[in-house]
Amino acid sequence: MRNDLITEDDIRLYLRTHTFGQKIHAFFRIGSTNEFANKLAEFGEQEGTLIIAEQQTKGRGRLKREWHSLFGKGLWFSLILRPRQDPEKAGLFSYLAGVSVAQAVEYYVGIKPEFKWPNDLLIDGKKFCGILSEVNFTNGRINFIILGIGINVNHKSKHFPKELIDRATSLSLETGSLIDRTKLLTKIIYRIEENYYYVQENGFDVITTYWKRRCPRLGKKISIYQDNQHIQGLFEDLDQNGCLLLRTENGDTQKIVAGDLT
Ligand code: BTN
Repeated sequence: MRNDLITEDDIRLYLRTHTFGQKIHAFFRIGSTNEFANKLAEFGEQEGTLIIAEQQTKGRGRLKREWHSLFGKGLWFSLILRPRQDPEKAGLFSYLAGVSVAQAVEYYVGIKPEFKWPNDLLIDGKKFCGILSEVNFTNGRINFIILGIGINVNHKSKHFPKELIDRATSLSLETGSLIDRTKLLTKIIYRIEENYYYVQENGFDVITTYWKRRCPRLGKKISIYQDNQHIQGLFEDLDQNGCLLLRTENGDTQKIVAGDLT
């Protein structure tokens, strides 16, 4: 680890991709990398562009929550995608991101993360990575997708706010050592690119199969919190577009697009 900050030069030194991360916008501090990426993409920024920051002051989580993005400890970044896919497949890119992070973490850090629907990555039941995928449609087609990825890398316990301490972890806490964020980042981007080109040719089955194998709640009774109510049932499967299929007590199968697994 040459120093503790992520620079554009260091990213270029380690990155082995053709498209993804070839254009980089690196910040010390920004509101939200997703917000900035959305603006760039609206003005036609090219596919694969990486937006990364050492700190976010208004990091966005799912369901309009805040994402805690401390300076210099994590990986807070967004990638612009412009896939030629049917609009109903848009949600699957979030699974692609999750699987790519898991593959890179397994290879580089030596830990096998688990998934929690819709797309949290956990170690021993504690979250270390969240994904916020924002889709922009034009005339019923995917115009662009912003894949936003937040990873707690070198946090110590004292770096988490009190309310998160029981539910959050970092890769460093789990391994007991500091992790080179730049190298981990470049390995994740490499996996995203590889998986991205693969699914465009071959479909998403390999991604959802990997995801399901690492999802301990699949096949179990779960409770989903959605629109201020809890729905209970059996987590049967994911459908071909990544929606959760929930078999409820009356025997119906409900398709769940968004919500929280509690
Ligand atoms: C979640 O689990 O709620 C998703 C969190 C996603 C956080 C990342 S950090 C980089 C990118 N920019 C943002 O504002 N959010 C995403």
